[in-house]
Amino acid sequence: MNKNKISVVILAAGKGSRMKSAKAKVLHTICGKEMLYHIIKASREISDDITVVVAHQKEAVMTSMNSYFNDINFVVQDDINFPGTGGAMKNISAKNEKVLVLNGDMPLISAKALDGFLRSSSDIVMSIFDLPNPDGYGRVIIENAEVKKIVEQKDASDLELQVTTVNAGVYLFHKNILDRYIPLLRNNNAQKEYYLTDIVSMARAGGLTISPLLVDEEHYKGVNSKKDLANAEEIMQERIRTKWMESGVTMQLPSTIYIEEGVTFEGECRVENGCRITGSSKIISSHIKAHSVVEDSIVINSDVGPLAHLRPASQLEDSHVGNFVEIKKSTLKGVKAGHLSYIGDATVDEGTNIGAGVITCNYDGINKHKTVIGKNVFIGSDSQLIAPVTLEDDVMVAAGTTVRSTTIKSGELAVSSSKSRVIKDFYYKFFKKK
Ligand code: UD1
Ligand code: CA
Repeated sequence: MNKNKISVVILAAGKGSRMKSAKAKVLHTICGKEMLYHIIKASREISDDITVVVAHQKEAVMTSMNSYFNDINFVVQDDINFPGTGGAMKNISAKNEKVLVLNGDMPLISAKALDGFLRSSSDIVMSIFDLPNPDGYGRVIIENAEVKKIVEQKDASDLELQVTTVNAGVYLFHKNILDRYIPLLRNNNAQKEYYLTDIVSMARAGGLTISPLLVDEEHYKGVNSKKDLANAEEIMQERIRTKWMESGVTMQLPSTIYIEEGVTFEGECRVENGCRITGSSKIISSHIKAHSVVEDSIVINSDVGPLAHLRPASQLEDSHVGNFVEIKKSTLKGVKAGHLSYIGDATVDEGTNIGAGVITCNYDGINKHKTVIGKNVFIGSDSQLIAPVTLEDDVMVAAGTTVRSTTIKSGELAVSSSKSRVIKDFYYKFFKKK
């Protein structure tokens, strides 16, 4: 594909009132990334001139996208005086002759799915698909294989409402067509908006041909509501899981596994049912067992779970982390933490065993403190390490010990448990059984 031949304009200025949210629609996330991110990512594969039209929450939209991309042009729509998708196109100056316009609420689009537009030579090409339930979409009136007009649902007659061919929301225009017709758009419709879709009937009256391009719903689905958002996420999850299974990851009951867009796998990995792996997590030659959550963490040659929680910035190597263990911002190398622990702001070195119920008390209510645990340390069950704590190599901590802000030196045992007392016949007295 020659990236220099086409400009892309993405319409992202709308409020998205049907989302019933304070957040701009295009910033709602799918598989961990904003809808608009996914569209820009696909667009960048076919174009190096991408313009995003913003207005509603424009600062938030621009800041968010600038955190991923450094070459996006932003144009601010005058959405007070020129609301609507046609108003959004008012101040566009594209570099190339051909301009591909995409709605900002179609996160499932891919470069491959846009291919048909790049190969057409018509004056205007617009995407259509057929839906048994076309509710919400603009209806496309086709005559002799040419598009005659697009009628928005709110402006449609009863007869037009029965049309099941809909406008999918992607258009290819020659730049001069936009220059000529955008200024002529009017807002004499039910929503008092300037509709980009009105170009179609105007251009046709001007003798131009408008070719319909039949596209698949899976890539062109518009997201208008929270229900649409959830459906789109399911479709994208399916794509993400399929990609990783094809590259060799074993998944059990894949439909129950959630993997975000930025996650990567290497080597031979297994993911059991119900797992959630998010952010930029990296899983290398590891086994993530049922119902574990891995957030922005690196797991190398280790097994995690079932029901374990790795919070952001954790790194595991050659380690075993069992059920009900929570790890945060910690590095474990060659470590066993089999049951019911919290390990936060810690580094733990090779050969160390962390018993059931061991807790790093990393937070004193104001500050977070570090715990450093060396090699071959044995920490007995139900111990608390009140940070800052250092356990040097070859240290033992007796079960039930509280280690309070100190260093235990190599070879030492830390023990704080007091001897348990025995009271004869207490049970019988207490329950009045004898
Ligand atoms: C639009 C089409 C409809 C099509 C549908 C496909 C129009 C008039 N209608 O309807 O024919 O079937 O998409 O999904 O174009 N936007 C702006 N500025 C605005 C208004 C909207 O940039 O003033 C952006 C929105 O952020 C959104 C996109 O344009 O990303 C589409 O807007 P939306 O309100 O969702 O249009 P639909 O009613 O779905
Ligand atoms: Ca829409």
